[in-house]
Amino acid sequence: MAQFIQRTEQNVIAIRDELIAGLAAPHAFTSPKYLYDALGSKLFEAICELPEYYPTRTEAAIFDTHASAIAQSIGRGATLIDLGAGNCAKAARLFLVLQPGQYVPIDISVDFMHDAVARLQQQFPQIEMTAIGMDFSGTLDLPDAVRPEKRLFFYPGSSIGNFTPQEASGFLRRLRKACDVNGRADGGILIGVDLVKNKATLDAAYDDALGVTACFNLNLLHHLNRLLDADFDVRNWQHLGFFNPESSRIEMHLEAKINHTVRWQGGERRFERDERIHTENSYKYTQREFILLLQKAGFGDVQIWTDPQEWFMVCHAHAV
Ligand code: AVJ
Repeated sequence: MAQFIQRTEQNVIAIRDELIAGLAAPHAFTSPKYLYDALGSKLFEAICELPEYYPTRTEAAIFDTHASAIAQSIGRGATLIDLGAGNCAKAARLFLVLQPGQYVPIDISVDFMHDAVARLQQQFPQIEMTAIGMDFSGTLDLPDAVRPEKRLFFYPGSSIGNFTPQEASGFLRRLRKACDVNGRADGGILIGVDLVKNKATLDAAYDDALGVTACFNLNLLHHLNRLLDADFDVRNWQHLGFFNPESSRIEMHLEAKINHTVRWQGGERRFERDERIHTENSYKYTQREFILLLQKAGFGDVQIWTDPQEWFMVCHAHAV
């Protein structure tokens, strides 16, 4: 039987305070985590099917092509800790070749994962499964039910790109600490990283012709309306998604089409035409830069696998 553990969720008041502080700032911003309400999660799945959005399929091809080499580098019996597991599909595809001893999917809410984990546990009864609902972006204190030995932190999809390089560095250090067993380094990390490439390819991936990414970004306003009792009108805003080469990141913004005021419970803000809400950053790395980041965080013996165009990279590194 799979085990399900839910850590305390962020409360409604803290969420409102955080959102309102960002919206009231001179350069308004929101955390990208608010892009993922029920519809936002479905729109993201649709993005992954778009011809312009290369990361998902490129990463999948790398895992398919190099599955046995990746598994050999990792070894059997790992404690596979799946960060942002969602429907658990990416990790499940590795079970046969990797043969983990324990599978630990982690996501904000354990409810998202319940059905998928129950089904996987039936399919793979020999793997102990412990699903955890927690926000792993801040602290990473794992419950005792997670085996300390041979921890493999699995962080696919280039989700690391949502952190600034400095935050990413801190996050990798925390993962590295969680690999220690009695002061000895054990385990490692398996991570997918999107690479710097020509601007036209990057721009198209985040501003697709069908407008699915635009819907994904604009849907944030519906989510804010529910969270804040706000009156954002989606028709007053337009999607911007582009690569900023100076900071090596994709930026997503919502830009006001007209001067108007938005009201929410206990406050309001006027937006001038062309004023923006910054909704997401997605950092892109060179192979060298990211390997250096891993090494500075205390990971070594870095192995990398890429696609023929070198658009995306999968890294396995040991805690050293
Ligand atoms: C889920 C953060 C990896 O940055 O490519 C896709 C999110 N935003 N299109 C990314 C996203 C717009 C995605 N990550």
